[in-house]
Amino acid sequence: MARIRPYAAADLPALYEICLKTGDNGADATHLYADHRIIGEIFAAPYAAFHPDYAFVAEDDEGVAGYVLGTPDTRAFEARCASDWWPPLRERYADAAGVPAARRTREQWDACYIHHPPAVPQPVVDAAPAHLHIDLLPRLQGRGVGKALMDTWLARAGGHAHLGCQAPNLRAQRFYEAYGWRRIEGVGPKSVVWMTIG
Ligand SMILES: CC(C)(COP(=O)(O)OP(=O)(O)OC[C@H]1O[C@@H](n2cnc3c(N)ncnc32)[C@H](O)[C@@H]1OP(=O)(O)O)[C@@H](O)C(=O)NCCC(=O)NCCS
Repeated sequence: MARIRPYAAADLPALYEICLKTGDNGADATHLYADHRIIGEIFAAPYAAFHPDYAFVAEDDEGVAGYVLGTPDTRAFEARCASDWWPPLRERYADAAGVPAARRTREQWDACYIHHPPAVPQPVVDAAPAHLHIDLLPRLQGRGVGKALMDTWLARAGGHAHLGCQAPNLRAQRFYEAYGWRRIEGVGPKSVVWMTIG
């Protein structure tokens, strides 16, 4: 059975791996990337770097196989990424904004994200300033571990948060709704579903 515990620095490689292996709308995204770190550089590692006290992992006998990561203050997190996180990554990943959108690879989309990070829409931050990301490898899914990680993170953050989910990831949206998250309708592009709780 999985154990939930606070994040430790030695867990960082597992965060990158889990982020990649759940990065295709909840399924393994490895085949979409030549560089296997870039997705974790956006959606996992900065949370561990700036808010290790808001990071928890789920671990079984094979190792760390799930996480919940987040920030209590989305705008402060965006500002910290702007000053301290994105600049060195921009040296490593070339801006792909010049590639027509229809021809961009996933890696190029992620490089665009690093060079032009989108701000969370204001109505979403108004609904709740905190946000989180939760991902489990398949071997831990469907066994109550996601719920337990969510319980842990929301208890840490005061029960009030938002999240963004890729619109095609219907399975995750059903999990969130079963948990009690509500959709924030009519905000931003239709590719992302925004939700809030608390
Ligand atoms: C989405 C995810 C975090 C859910 O965690 P999980 O451990 O699989 O879900 P749990 O087993 O904790 O489910 C908790 C409850 O939600 C329900 N639930 C879970 N997934 C559900 C679904 N797709 N539809 C309806 N109910 C669902 C469970 O039945 C359970 O209800 P119960 O407490 O009444 O038994 C996990 O499956 C995951 O990491 N998926 C891949 C990555 C991903 O998509 N992350 C989200 C990116 S936005």
